[in-house]
Amino acid sequence: MTTYEMQQEILRLKKEKNICILVHAYQTHDIWEVADHIGDSFGLTQQAAKSDAETVIMCGVRFMAETVKMLSPEKRVLLSSADAGCPMAEQMDRDMILAFRQQHPDHKVVAYINTTAELKTVCDICVTSSSAVKIVKALPDKKLLFIPDCNLGSWVKQQVPEKEITLMQGGCPTHARITAKEAEAAKAAHPEALLLVHPECRPEVTALADYAGSTTGIMSYAEKSDAKEFIIGTETSIVQHLQFACPDKRFYPLSKDCVCHNMRLTTLADVYDCVCGRGGAEIEMDADLIAQARRSIDQMLAYGG
Ligand code: 13P
Ligand code: SF4
Repeated sequence: MTTYEMQQEILRLKKEKNICILVHAYQTHDIWEVADHIGDSFGLTQQAAKSDAETVIMCGVRFMAETVKMLSPEKRVLLSSADAGCPMAEQMDRDMILAFRQQHPDHKVVAYINTTAELKTVCDICVTSSSAVKIVKALPDKKLLFIPDCNLGSWVKQQVPEKEITLMQGGCPTHARITAKEAEAAKAAHPEALLLVHPECRPEVTALADYAGSTTGIMSYAEKSDAKEFIIGTETSIVQHLQFACPDKRFYPLSKDCVCHNMRLTTLADVYDCVCGRGGAEIEMDADLIAQARRSIDQMLAYGG
């Protein structure tokens, strides 16, 4: 079977079986081409809440598939690659947060959506990179704990100075790897280029950027901009997608090490196996866990929609 034939089979089978394929923007182009929706974490969550498919296949990482299951417990939800986790989602546990809450009862807990369902049960509201500033601004509470990404938290804190935001040490190992020295070197190598970064990058990197935003924020900024060259400070797949979408512009990776090995696990063959009913990991979650964890996601959709 060729790649094209495999894609055609996926498209045929997903229609026949009422399957929706949600694809995070970091996935490869061959997977983009069979998607019902491509997006960042917030966009995919909104699509998951709307979908009336019987089965949803999430091509991304585990917390994204868990989010879909929480929003649609009656659906069969498959994570395309069973081993695709997000290391950041596992960095903090419930007890840490419960201890903080006991010591600081006047704080609300804001969790990046890149967290496990267990952790979400002790948080008040979730945010994503594209909704964090809007939601934190809109919350009536002044004192907040922001977990787990201290880089995203610092970026939010800078833009919402009226709030008292406490951070804990955590973050994305893929983005946190990028240094200010690399950013300065990339700017020196491409003096005409704009630097676009994801706010999961360290504050000293974000400080050098012309724009900071979510995955789809970066893509739409580059597509709409009159500039012709861009240094992309997020997962290197976005460089490929932008170069495909805008052949007249030039895109350079800020760091060739900005590769999320978990996001790269899924192949088109994995998606094919899922639609054939023999692959992926089915997400199973206890009803109590869903009820408790989902509150923070519902809050996010209410404030950020
Ligand atoms: P966004 O999808 O919100 O841009 O976040 C990127 C990411 O790291 C997803 O895990
Ligand atoms: Fe997790 Fe970072 Fe990979 Fe996103 S890029 S899935 S935050 S490790």
